[in-house]
Amino acid sequence: MENLIDKYGRKIEYLRISVTDRCNLSCLYCVPPEGLKLVPKEKLLTFEEIFRVAKIAVDLGVQKIKLTGGEPSARKGIVELIRKLSEIPELEDLSLTTNGIFLSNLAEKLFQAGLKRVNVSVDSLRPESFRQITGGGDLSKVLLGIDKAQNLGMKVKVNTVALRGLNDGEILDFVEFSQTRKFEVRFIEFMPLCGNGWSQNLFMPLNEIKDLIGSFYTLQPTDGNGVATVYEIENGGRIGFIPTLSEPFCSGCSRIRLTSWGGIRPCLFSNIEYRILPLLRDGSPDEKIAEVILKAAQAKPQYNPYLAQKTETKEIFMRNVGG
Ligand code: GTP
Ligand code: 5AD
Repeated sequence: MENLIDKYGRKIEYLRISVTDRCNLSCLYCVPPEGLKLVPKEKLLTFEEIFRVAKIAVDLGVQKIKLTGGEPSARKGIVELIRKLSEIPELEDLSLTTNGIFLSNLAEKLFQAGLKRVNVSVDSLRPESFRQITGGGDLSKVLLGIDKAQNLGMKVKVNTVALRGLNDGEILDFVEFSQTRKFEVRFIEFMPLCGNGWSQNLFMPLNEIKDLIGSFYTLQPTDGNGVATVYEIENGGRIGFIPTLSEPFCSGCSRIRLTSWGGIRPCLFSNIEYRILPLLRDGSPDEKIAEVILKAAQAKPQYNPYLAQKTETKEIFMRNVGG
């Protein structure tokens, strides 16, 4: 097995796969007001193609795979993909990030297929503001899905994008949510991507949230995951912070991405994409595909290029690039 090391010495071991650009919600931080153009179906990778790339990436040294989207659970056949991926012996960690709407129906099948952990977006604990932020989402369905997943024994983490004026009055409610449910709640800085209406007015730097929580609880540093700084607090709570803008974590980044339309991207904030779809469809051997993955890893920028050069991020669509 080769190790993927980039030119700055970072070990690349985490592949994020956007399995679809389709989503059943339209969260205001993810979708521009005018909506998104969908990738034609025939240009989306098939599950066989995704599996092939994943297998090659694991042979190169990838140890963690995240399925994301769009909404990964909205794509038919996701359970079978999970089953096949979970059977790759060298893969140490397989997870899914979801909006949770379909989770109560799917959790058992996903679990039986080999999925042991899931991250669920919950941007508000108030049904009306949840609906507003997500473009019509039903909070009760998501909470039911989380219950189901936890009862099955899946590890659940909750993602909350911090939005001033929308959910900033709920910080301590989220802390209690973490304590009562015994899972990690991660506050995420709102990132400016794909013309999503990012503005300084909506943006909340996470140190503000950390200070607020710190004035009520003792934050005990514990292991994070490279992007999140995580703290244990009283009564079994775990709070994480993902401060992309105020404290970028590029030096510890171990990620590359497979887009839903078959490209390898070295960084969430980079427009550089190495096309892999043509190779998958013209009979190229695995070695050729491995070469592209290695090339993409070598092209990983040292820093988030948006922060370094304030480049336009309008063409980066979370739904394709995999969150
Ligand atoms: P796991 O701990 O392995 O589950 O990964 P994760 O927490 O990073 O995954 P998740 O999909 O839950 O993403 C949480 C947040 O981190 C989301 O807002 C993502 O957009 C963000 N994120 C994921 N990867 C990157 C990255 O490479 N760079 C930046 N800046 N943010 C990322
Ligand atoms: N800023 C921060 N996080 C975002 N996500 C989607 N768009 C943004 C954004 N602009 C998060 C979602 C989901 C994860 C995949 O990415 O909340 O949890």
